[in-house]
Amino acid sequence: MANIAVIGAQWGDEGKGKIVDLLTEDADVIARCQGGHNAGHTVVINNKKFILHLVPSGILHKNKTCIIGNGVVIDPKALIAEIEGLKKEGIHVGKNLFISENAHLIMPYHVALDQECEKAKGSKKIGTTGRGIGPAYIDKVARSGIRMRDLFNSGVFKEKLKVNLSDINYLLENKYRIKKLSPEKIYADYMKYARYLSPFVADTVVLINKLMAKGKEVLFEGAQGTLLDVDHGTYPYVTSSSASVGGVCTGLGVAPTKIDGVLGVMKAYTTRVGAGPFPTELTDNLGAALRERGGEYGATTGRPRRCGWLDAVGLRHAVRINGFTGLAVTKLDVLDEAEKIKVCIAYKYKNPYPTCICSRKGKACRLQEMPHSVSVLERCEPIYKELDGWRKSTVGITRLKDLPGQARAYIDYIKNLLNVKIDLISTGQKRDEVIVLRNPIRR
Ligand code: IMP
Repeated sequence: MANIAVIGAQWGDEGKGKIVDLLTEDADVIARCQGGHNAGHTVVINNKKFILHLVPSGILHKNKTCIIGNGVVIDPKALIAEIEGLKKEGIHVGKNLFISENAHLIMPYHVALDQECEKAKGSKKIGTTGRGIGPAYIDKVARSGIRMRDLFNSGVFKEKLKVNLSDINYLLENKYRIKKLSPEKIYADYMKYARYLSPFVADTVVLINKLMAKGKEVLFEGAQGTLLDVDHGTYPYVTSSSASVGGVCTGLGVAPTKIDGVLGVMKAYTTRVGAGPFPTELTDNLGAALRERGGEYGATTGRPRRCGWLDAVGLRHAVRINGFTGLAVTKLDVLDEAEKIKVCIAYKYKNPYPTCICSRKGKACRLQEMPHSVSVLERCEPIYKELDGWRKSTVGITRLKDLPGQARAYIDYIKNLLNVKIDLISTGQKRDEVIVLRNPIRR
């Protein structure tokens, strides 16, 4: 048995919720390490859809310990609404949920700043979820953030709020020309949240390490995806946290030596929400068909996702950064109707500048690896390998041998291209619509 990190290999929305839900059966602890309620992890159980934003997907199973780590940014109002929503559906949330006392809080001024900043950027906007994620992480790094623990020391909380708000209200009024926020109202609301959340708050670093020392199996549930990672993604069109495997160590206080495996979750094609370069994007009917067939609308914001072919250049980057020990390929069934399926194996980059990043100045060059400059990536064209589609339904198939030959060939192609074993293939939304080739926890 093993402690496994489940990490998005693309731009998020790879179907991590379903994979975590599936693997939870064999785990004791499920822990979130980064991001916030920008995430939307969808799990379908008995035709009922659950969308989790902050609470680890493991909460849907009985007798599992769920942890929200110090690396997560928490909007307490959103978290309470999520807990209440789960309880209404009959899901037990009590002694099975622990929240780090060191997790930073998303404050109403973070949400206001996120939204106003985006408006001010105009065509250069990132396309954030508008939930205050970026500004909350800015405060964390600037050492002016307010942490969960501060909720329980009303004097400290009040003072920090006063200091932060005096600067931010100046910005809101004078730069963004909107109404300033009332410290009294925020204080009163947050003291109410403190009363609700206090039974859940703990030293989760000690807790998770004690549980691991006792031999409990931990599933680290990543949010977003590697290409949205603040260090390794398509910066600046990224989220503000470490969405690759490094986030597990810093966001939970877990040593890298305690992570036994890293499962990369990738869709059988690619999607992206928000702005930023996307070389394999399909802006034609094919892209629209993928969106409709795959239900590609944001679980958090409802925004239509941009859709395109699989991008092996981005995936190779994700394999390198995360050291994936296995892959879960999701939504294979969405490609069932495609006559031809394309995979981007490299980029063609026609450099318009005199200072080229490669030696073939001025001439088109072939890039095997993801360029780090977004202005280069924006000018990359995909070089495709075309494969035959299978044009048969794969929905609900649970055995590899039952997949059509071309679908198996597609899976083999991905495996060989990325040089990583395929552990799971998801063939539908429901829990049991999956082919398990190798259980990453039980291996
Ligand atoms: P933020 O995380 O709200 O600041 O948004 C930054 C970028 O990350 C935007 O392009 C969002 O659409 C994207 N993003 C954030 N969370 C998710 C997610 O869970 N899935 C997919 N994209 C996300």
